[in-house]
Amino acid sequence: MTERTFSIIKPDATRRNLTGKVNAVIEDAGLRIVAQRRIRMSDTQAKKFYEVHAARPFYGELVEFMTSAPVVVQVLEGDNAVARYREVMGATNPADAAAGTIRKLYAESVGENSVHGSDSAENAALEIAQFFTEADIVG
Ligand code: CMP
Repeated sequence: MTERTFSIIKPDATRRNLTGKVNAVIEDAGLRIVAQRRIRMSDTQAKKFYEVHAARPFYGELVEFMTSAPVVVQVLEGDNAVARYREVMGATNPADAAAGTIRKLYAESVGENSVHGSDSAENAALEIAQFFTEADIVG
């Protein structure tokens, strides 16, 4: 089933000039980057994006990190894209991530973990809509 997911290449990765290397892992996994934009996330955007984590102790740190340098927001398309991208990213904590995953290859810590990917098709649609319009997505 062809599906879309939402991805963010996070500040720790853009700072280290890893956008192309992360995109290579995504594309080698059979996912297509059908929309992509490099932005500086505003405080308001980051707070809204991570609203579900607002009660967590790391929320403030997470918002501060996500606004600390540019990010690359993306729409990925492919067969079972949500689950496939979660496999490709690896576990949230890079110490637990499998070999060959983006987080095993590049992430620095559980907070600075290089990439975000949607956890469900429903959230993917909401997350995509926060950053893209249908006209931005060219499949
Ligand atoms: P992400 O998939 O973007 O969704 C929520 C983020 O919170 C997660 O990736 C991590 O970057 C971050 N996160 C999760 N646990 C912690 C933690 N213990 N400390 C700091 N950040 C965390």
